[in-house]
Amino acid sequence: MKNYKTSIFTGMRPTSGITIGNLIGAIKPTLDVLEKESSKRPMLFVADLHSLTTNEGKDTQGNVISVLKDYIAAGLDPEKADLFVQSQIADEISKMTIYLSRLVTVSELLRIPTLKEKIRSGQSEMTVNGLLALYPVMMASDILLQGSEYVPVGKDQYPHMEITCEIVRKFNKKYGDTLLEPKPLDQGEPVNILSLTGDGSKMSKTNPNGAIILSDDIDVSLKKVKRAKTAFAGEMNDDLDSLLQIAKYVSTEEEGREFDRLIEEHMEGKQVMGDFKNLLMSSLERFLKDFQSKKAEISDDYVLELVKKGGEKARSNAREVLEEVEKAMGMRFV
Ligand code: TRP
Repeated sequence: MKNYKTSIFTGMRPTSGITIGNLIGAIKPTLDVLEKESSKRPMLFVADLHSLTTNEGKDTQGNVISVLKDYIAAGLDPEKADLFVQSQIADEISKMTIYLSRLVTVSELLRIPTLKEKIRSGQSEMTVNGLLALYPVMMASDILLQGSEYVPVGKDQYPHMEITCEIVRKFNKKYGDTLLEPKPLDQGEPVNILSLTGDGSKMSKTNPNGAIILSDDIDVSLKKVKRAKTAFAGEMNDDLDSLLQIAKYVSTEEEGREFDRLIEEHMEGKQVMGDFKNLLMSSLERFLKDFQSKKAEISDDYVLELVKKGGEKARSNAREVLEEVEKAMGMRFV
């Protein structure tokens, strides 16, 4: 392959009921990168095959559609990007994953963070499922089949990107120059929005008491903000910092300045957390209303039409790459 086919490529796993933490931590950084590189046509996909690695997502199809709508409601212009779903090209991904698996050792696979996380949360190397161990190889397939140049991902995904590059180097060395190395595009540190319950955990729909779930009834979310833990006057802590990040994301410019002023006063020791929360609740209410009405306007049919087109492009890229890969490996006889 002489040239990259896709200048910016990224994706996320389908999750139901995304939280404002997912929006700020995963969707916003991607949209920011796309805006900065607006001359390039990005390709965005939903990694539903990757979500098979966890038990999550009994309604995977519904979640996929919901994530695509979230991207658009959060500001992605669907005319300026190609969107597809990983399982649309499951045949190509599966083949590529088999070919590439040849190039990584089991011990390399056991070192990746997704797996280490599971091992930390009680599973062992012996009980995690096989597909989870193949996670980075399948991710390499996603990236390489689209001939991707830049891949915007958070720092947490860098180890996966390194495996992808290592696979490319090994492949080219073994079978001759065929694949091009992708480059990570820095989205900065992954933003960590904490649970509003103040127990130090990450905001997640699995702990709904502390999560602002975008599709929830708005009053439910506002009540959670009202009860949220802040910090004593004069002090900054992770809970208040999370609230401030949410505030900055949902506010207008003018409200943003007001938040800055309140935080300044708070740090001077004044009692302003009541005002801070009131402002946060009104900004958040407007933001959620707007987000929900934008999302409600997007029909399933519209999204399906988009991925039909995007999927065709993704399949055509993937087949071209596979052809070169198979020729190089001596796996194509006609
Ligand atoms: N691993 C990514 C995540 O958990 C999702 C993903 C799968 C991905 N394949 C990819 C991201 C290819 C970028 C490129 O968020």
